[in-house]
Amino acid sequence: MTLELESRRIAAVKIVKLAGERAKALFEQRGRFLAECKAAGEFVSEADREIEDLIREEINRELPGENIVGEERGGSPDGDFWCVDPIDGTSNFLCGLPLWGVSVAYCRSGTPIAGAVFLPVLDTLLSAASGSGAHLNGTALRSKTSAPVPTVAIGINNNWNKGAIRSVEDALLENQFEIVRYRCAVAGLAFAALGRLDGYLECGLNLWDAAAGSLICSEVGLVSRLENTGTNGKIAVLAGTQQLQSAIGSLTGFE
Ligand code: IPD
Ligand code: CA
Ligand code: CA
Repeated sequence: MTLELESRRIAAVKIVKLAGERAKALFEQRGRFLAECKAAGEFVSEADREIEDLIREEINRELPGENIVGEERGGSPDGDFWCVDPIDGTSNFLCGLPLWGVSVAYCRSGTPIAGAVFLPVLDTLLSAASGSGAHLNGTALRSKTSAPVPTVAIGINNNWNKGAIRSVEDALLENQFEIVRYRCAVAGLAFAALGRLDGYLECGLNLWDAAAGSLICSEVGLVSRLENTGTNGKIAVLAGTQQLQSAIGSLTGFE
């Protein structure tokens, strides 16, 4: 482990904690936010923008001048950059459901190498640096095997063809996995890392949705794949047990 990566992990932990605490205060007053529709099924609110601004300020305070790419304020994913999803699971946040989180990762040439996610309502903060394991609320997280009840979370979005989603769901059901949808990639990946799920998968999402979560899954010893699908910078994420990898390994987007 390099000191550089460890210091970036520690910075990410500090930033998601601060941002998550502020986001939780906004969640408690969520009635004052309007759900703005970015595209069919994609929501944003003033809370998302406020939290991204806060995260940008904190990154600039901790590590001045570094490149930042965020869902709400943009940026260029060139070279080394911080990759920020201020609120992942916005639809849950706006509906008063607890599954939403803050995600901050440091990426080198598109690959996450340090990062943290925080689910404030669940008081769950996970972090990792490449090659040095993962942490849960400050203590080392051991590697996980299968969930007690075989269960996989999938995320869906408008970039992922409905026929392909059905093929993946059929493969999961044929392999005796239960399927859940949480509307929050960060929660799905965090629960996979914690061994509460066998894994998380989704095609057609953005790097900020999965950068930190997939690194954390990889660092607890799960199969963790983040692939550029070649369509508009969209990625596919698969993070889970070997059984999950075997169940869907030959399907489009995950072969
Ligand atoms: C979305 C959530 C959802 C996933 C979508 C994401 P947002 O992020 O993670 O679970 O399926 O692909 O866009 O809009 O809530 O930040
Ligand atoms: Ca997201
Ligand atoms: Ca978001």
